[in-house]
Amino acid sequence: MLGRLNHVAIAVPDLAAATATYRDTLGARVNQPQALPEHGVTVVFIDLGNTKIELLEPLGEGSPIAGFLEKNPSGGMHHICYEVDDIIAARDRLKAAGARVLGDGNPKTGAHGKPVLFLHPKDFTGTLVELEQA
Ligand code: CO
Repeated sequence: MLGRLNHVAIAVPDLAAATATYRDTLGARVNQPQALPEHGVTVVFIDLGNTKIELLEPLGEGSPIAGFLEKNPSGGMHHICYEVDDIIAARDRLKAAGARVLGDGNPKTGAHGKPVLFLHPKDFTGTLVELEQA
């Protein structure tokens, strides 16, 4: 069921500063910021060739990463995203196994225009997991 690593997401308090660190200090290829109001974040993707890093900054009130940044004020690893072929089949299999799907349990459209779901970190070794239909 589980496919490739699509990206690792890092929550940051200052997206411009974090982007500059990756672009200028680390010499990475960074994309333009993308506002995702439905997810309460602005994202910048860093293309590493074999995978991506997703920098996340809170957007608007009640951002889902606001609490994380309160606990981790300088930022930190927020989630990892795996690809699946069929997100509904994956969701149903995981729910049948007792895993908790966050939100209303239905996929939302993610930053790549593809359906995504998030899984409860307590069910996956303390790591928030995003699934993206590849
Ligand atoms: Co993500």
